[in-house]
Amino acid sequence: MTEDNAFAHLDPAYRRFAALPDDERIAWIRADRWIGFEQSGAALARLENLLTYPPRDRMPCLLIYGETGMGKTKIVRKFERDHPPKFSQVTGVDHRPVVVAQVPSEPIERDLYRELMASMGAPAMVGGTLAREKDICRSLLRTVGAKMIILDEVNGMLAGTFRQQRIFLNAIRFLANDLRIPLVCAGTDLARQALLTDAQLAERFEAFHLKPWQNDAAFAGLLKSFERILPLRSASDLISGEARERIHKQTSGVTARIFRLIETATEDAVQSGKERLDAHSFGDNLVLPLVSMTQTVRRRGKRVPQRVGA
Ligand SMILES: Nc1ncnc2c1ncn2[C@@H]1O[C@H](COP(=O)(O)OP(=O)(O)OP(=O)(O)O)[C@@H](O)[C@H]1O
Ligand SMILES: [Mg+2]
Repeated sequence: MTEDNAFAHLDPAYRRFAALPDDERIAWIRADRWIGFEQSGAALARLENLLTYPPRDRMPCLLIYGETGMGKTKIVRKFERDHPPKFSQVTGVDHRPVVVAQVPSEPIERDLYRELMASMGAPAMVGGTLAREKDICRSLLRTVGAKMIILDEVNGMLAGTFRQQRIFLNAIRFLANDLRIPLVCAGTDLARQALLTDAQLAERFEAFHLKPWQNDAAFAGLLKSFERILPLRSASDLISGEARERIHKQTSGVTARIFRLIETATEDAVQSGKERLDAHSFGDNLVLPLVSMTQTVRRRGKRVPQRVGA
């Protein structure tokens, strides 16, 4: 089963997975992984470019926005993994080029600093004024040598009152101005609208729109890469006109739905013994996970901000 020429329809690095027993193949299908495609690659390249930008008074900032499930958080996490913290023997502290924090579900300035500090591995502060937490956050960002701050779920800011939003935008503006490092925000279109309400930020931010997939060559490319990695024992056909059309229609071109649909159909193909995907795999009898297909899922996966003792 594992000879080199077995499963020639798969990418050589993925052939061995097709030889695994069914339950292991299903676990493989369900596992979290990164799959690169045109738009995500372009967003990563944009981030990479910002990271090497020389410091100057007005650093450019970037907003990555798109519908829920378009893969914004995936891109942010991938970028973070590509630039992991390194322990410095000289200073005895972690050098952390990329600091990622989620915008708290209620836009409270203090929680933002705490999210940032927690993502730098700093212990919780006990007692202290807001000004002091802000100061410590700022000096910690310098100590770890942060070269970029990424705030995810910036649309969460809109959950606050108008006044909270103004304060929060001020805090973001402060981070962008004070540290002389690029600030990246990710969120839905609401995030874009929120940033636009601050003229100074609006001018500073460049926007990168993660657009829903069209049924075009890029989409065919994505489906082709699925064909090459899914642990099925026969060659699939996902790029015939009919298969493409069905997948596109059932998912409205939203990345998360496409991934979920294909994963579900793949599990089905393993369990049924069909061992390949084609247009018929996406018929009406496929039992789809409801949440990812019909609802806007808000996965917050939040770290609970540490409480100050006082
Ligand atoms: N590059 C990718 N590789 C693998 N899976 C991906 C990729 N992009 C998106 N996905 C799939 O889509 C799902 C949603 O992606 P993600 O959480 O990044 O969306 P989001 O744009 O941050 O959505 P939200 O606005 O709801 O936070 C992921 O859990 C994953 O299954
Ligand atoms: Mg997200």
